[in-house]
Amino acid sequence: MVLAILSRNPGLYSTQSLAIAGRKRNHRMLVLDPYHCSQHIIGGKPRLYYASRPLMRIDAIIPRIGATATDIGASVIDHFTSMGVYSTTTSDALLKARNKWSCSQFLAARGLPVPEACLHFNAEYNEKVLQKFKYPLIIKLLKSTQGMGVLKANHKAQALNILEAFQRLEEQVIIQEFIQEVNGSDIRIIVIDGRVAGAMKRQAKKGEFRSNLHRGARAQPVRLTPEEESIAIRATRLLGLDVAGVDLLRSYRGPLILEVNASPGLEGIEQFLKSSISEKIIELVESRKPMA
Ligand SMILES: Nc1ncnc2c1ncn2[C@@H]1O[C@H](COP(=O)(O)OP(=O)(O)OP(=O)(O)O)[C@@H](O)[C@H]1O
Ligand SMILES: [Mg+2]
Repeated sequence: MVLAILSRNPGLYSTQSLAIAGRKRNHRMLVLDPYHCSQHIIGGKPRLYYASRPLMRIDAIIPRIGATATDIGASVIDHFTSMGVYSTTTSDALLKARNKWSCSQFLAARGLPVPEACLHFNAEYNEKVLQKFKYPLIIKLLKSTQGMGVLKANHKAQALNILEAFQRLEEQVIIQEFIQEVNGSDIRIIVIDGRVAGAMKRQAKKGEFRSNLHRGARAQPVRLTPEEESIAIRATRLLGLDVAGVDLLRSYRGPLILEVNASPGLEGIEQFLKSSISEKIIELVESRKPMA
């Protein structure tokens, strides 16, 4: 098969890992930068050019779309799928998962557990909104990534300061209950094709509540409960993601979904598990499109 990884940077670990896994299984692997894909409609039919040249026949795409390329990436995915090419994520699923608030809204409406939270932007109501939360509380940028833009406020004055700073920058924020009992940990579950392909607990370094590996957190083994597995699988199925990273917080009242990532980083989990998640993604693609 000819498989294309949609990625802005062929040098990234996840892109390389997928390319290696695909080649190992005798596929032709291309890395396509969505910014070099020109989408055309000619005679009512979708056509795609890459760097101004007609693109060869592609059997499936594996989008690895970063936060800065979301809109273009979603549009390129749509173009491929309208040409009948299988994608490990639909554009809808990518967009829904990428927006932390839409994702929580969508999952909560379908009965999945998420933290108590509020999408907030109107400075007129800062005080009133804060009254709904206990301290400490979390204030995070709607567009936070890798833990950057995720802050903890220990008291009202601090929370107001943070809100004012973000509002001055015209940023939308999510105010969220702080799940203290996790003690700086969360659970990352990789779901592929409706099954758990791997999981790890991420433990923040001392003095830090954010468990992002980019913020120095350590991966640890974890045994998932049947409830955690079922929540992760249901979330990905409802969102329509064939590949996803689901982050859970183990709260006193049960697992809460913090976020679902449509392009989960593979470096941390593959190095921790010492096994290839990429190969499982390639197997998924093979199962969707039988060899010609
Ligand atoms: N409500 C919360 N209670 C306790 N810890 C939290 C809460 N929200 C976030 N955290 C911690 O902060 C980390 C980063 O927060 P979050 O995952 O929401 O944003 P992000 O990592 O910046 O986004 P992305 O994962 O999309 O890059 C989480 O992994 C978790 O360890
Ligand atoms: Mg996160």
